[in-house]
Order: sequence, then structure tokens, then C-alpha cells
Amino acid sequence: MAKPKFQTPTGMHDILPHNQPYYDKIYETVKKISSFYDFEKIDTPILEDFNLFVRSVGENTDIVEKEMFTLKTKGKDLLALRPEGTAPIMRSYIENGFVSLPQPVRLWYFGPFFRYEKPQAGRFRQFNQLGIEIIGEKDAIVDAQSILVMYSILQEIGLKDLVVKINSIGDEKCRPIYRKDLMKYLREKKNSLCSDCQKRMKTNPLRVLDCKNEKCQQVLVEAPQSVDYLCEECKKHLKDVLEYLDELKIPYCLESKLVRGLDYYTRTVFEIESTREESCGVVLAGGGRYDNLAKVLGGEEVSACGAAAGIERIVSEMKESKVKMPFSSVPEVFFTQIGPLAKKKSLPILEELRKSGFEVGESFGKDGLKAQLGKASRLGVKAVLILGQKEALNDMILIRNMQTSKQVEVSQKDIVKELKQILKEK
Ligand code: HAM
Repeated sequence: MAKPKFQTPTGMHDILPHNQPYYDKIYETVKKISSFYDFEKIDTPILEDFNLFVRSVGENTDIVEKEMFTLKTKGKDLLALRPEGTAPIMRSYIENGFVSLPQPVRLWYFGPFFRYEKPQAGRFRQFNQLGIEIIGEKDAIVDAQSILVMYSILQEIGLKDLVVKINSIGDEKCRPIYRKDLMKYLREKKNSLCSDCQKRMKTNPLRVLDCKNEKCQQVLVEAPQSVDYLCEECKKHLKDVLEYLDELKIPYCLESKLVRGLDYYTRTVFEIESTREESCGVVLAGGGRYDNLAKVLGGEEVSACGAAAGIERIVSEMKESKVKMPFSSVPEVFFTQIGPLAKKKSLPILEELRKSGFEVGESFGKDGLKAQLGKASRLGVKAVLILGQKEALNDMILIRNMQTSKQVEVSQKDIVKELKQILKEK
């Protein structure tokens, strides 16, 4: 078959009707769990000031350096398609004066994000995320709660084999000492690092830690670990988070090389991975604490923590682990029509049935009664409405009870009452 002239842009895809139930199930689950934990929904624009991400995510991160979709407006504003949701939400928190609300402010979101990445399995240029942010609380309990909410969402969706990987990257007091020692270590091994890491070493040495290159991985085996450099407060914070996770019996492992690719994190960083053998540790969700972000964006000092998960990756995991999906609803009534006058009168009747709460199927594209009845019986409906030329002229309609095969003629004004009666019969 010849390629169609127009296709979706590279790394972007349609969410086709057969996949919509997965998105609906995820959305409903996030809504339910976040509402229990008192999160309120927020939507921010798809486009934001380009510099919002440079400031927050970081100038020397892959997201800002390589992955931003940017555009200049006619008014010469430099905007970016949002690559992530935390910076826009903090921008909104500051802009809308949420600091004067009772703290913490808990927000959740669900929508499309954009990163100009090399498309590959689980990595798209347009993808969807669900996210939660708890802003205005420095206690370690909200780190644990962010993990709990995200973990529970994934579990409730039907994913079972999950593990939390967690680390602390310290704060502005202890991280510089760690950074210095890591730099020193990397400098000594410079020639064994890949060319990307040789550059990262100067601009963002922590990013070297999550390089997937085999050679770099070997060099990193003996690299200094951030947990060994934590100051007393950061050490206590991590200990508290882990104790909360122990209480919750959430499986976790300390991952000394986990740093995450966004600069705004302080202290806790975490990811939730699938442990299913075939999924090769796909990262479903990631998050962490970001106590400096508000200040970096020009606001007051506000502690915060949150997480986001990739919907496409969740959908793929749901399919591969054969998560049971609810059956789509089938109509209990089917409407058929014969002849031009009946067809003309069909739409108002259908509309009346919709307003009365019936699920009704029809097949307006087929005019023959046999074909229409064939579809009705394939659907397994309980009742069929038949509007022929004669009935249309007399404001009547036939109702066939498909279970008893009995057929009655009723006045069109009595359809709702008669149908209710028939559907009630066993
Ligand atoms: P992130 O780790 O960059 O974190 O993204 C979160 C999740 O989005 C990932 O774990 C992954 O499932 C999904 N994801 C990321 N990039 C892609 C892609 N190109 N294609 C498909 N899925 C993708 C953040 O975005 C932070 N804002 C999370 C956060 C919230 N931290 C604190 N609060």
C-alpha cells in the first residue's frame, strides 16, 4: 500500500478510539486518588516563556539543550512547548499568589508534553503525563506521600510489578562538596568517558551518573556517592522518608546513581520502575523535592515535592501485563427505520430516548430492515424499535421484545413508558 501523503509528525501519534479506554481509565484513577488526598486539578498553557524552563529545568540539561520545541511569536516573544509540568505549575503558584492560601497547596494535572527526542520505544516527541505537586511543605512526610500517591495510582490502574528507586542529592550546603569530589574523580578518568560525558563533566557533572554508555558505567562503579556527603539535615530527611516507606511497605531500593535530568531537585529524587522481566526496567514515573524552584523563578522560598508519570508508558505496560479493562457499554435498545418518511422522523425520536437515559444503537447507513435487525441481534439488544412508512404516517412505532419475540404497536408519545416496561421484564 502506498504511503499516505500526510502522516503524524515524527515521534507523535494519534490516540485512536480503541486506545481511548486506557486513557479514560488512567484519568479516572488519578482523579479519584488525588481527590482523596485533597489535590485540586490545574491546567496550564501548552506554551510558556522559553526562559521559564532555562531557569528551572537548567541551561545545561538535555531537555533545555536539545529537546525543546521553541517558537518566536509575531510579537517576538520566545516561547516553548512545555517539556514538563513542574516549572509551569510553580510559575502559576507564584503568579496567582497561592502562597497566601493554606499550605501546602496540592495540585494535579494530566495532559500533553513535548520533547524533541530521538523517537524510540517509550520515548516520544509528544507524550502525555499525569502529575501531582505538593507545594508549601518541607516535612519528609510529603516526599513519602508523593511516592505513595504515584505508586497507588499505578497499582490501582492494575500494574503490579513495581519498585521505587530513591536517592538524595543533598541541598545547597552539602551538594557543592559532593560535586567537587565527583568532578575530581571524573577528571582523573576523563579519557575513559564518552564524548557527551566529557562535556557534561564541565557543565553538569551529576548528569554523568545516569549516562547509559557501557564505558561510562564502568568508570562510575567506584565514583563517590551523594548519600555519603549528606549534611545532618539531609541525612535525617532521607532517613525519615525511608521510614515512612517502610511503614507503608512500599518496595524501594536506594539507587546511588539516581540524579534525574532536571536541575531543580534538592534532597529526595525517585523513580518508579516496572519490574516485569520483559519490560527491562521501564521508568513509569519520576519525581522529587524542589525546595529552591520558587526562589529561582522569582518567588519567596517555598518547599515542594511532586512526581509525574508517562501515560503512553503506562498504557503499554497495561497492555503487556494484560490489565483487565471494563467492557464498553452496549446499547439495550436498537432503532430501525424503513422508508424516507421514517428516516426523516428518526432523529427527534432518538433524541427523546437519549434525554430519557436510554442507550440506543442505530444503523442509518443501512435502509433494509434485514441488515438493521442483523446488527441489532449481533449487539444482543433487549428491544428493537421499528419505524416503517405506515407507522411514521400514524405517529406510531413498533417495539419488538427480543427476548420473547413479541411485537407491539404503540403511540410514539408512549415510547419511553413502554420501553421502560419491556426492559424491566425478565
Ligand atoms: P520526568 O522524569 O522528566 O519528570 O518525566 C516523568 C515521566 O514522564 C517519565 O518517568 C516518563 O514515564 C515520562 N516521559 C518523559 N519523557 C518522555 C517521552 N519523551 N516519551 C514518553 N514518556 C516520557 C518530570 O517531568 C518532572 N516534572 C516530574 C516531577 C514532578 N518532579 C517533581 N514534580
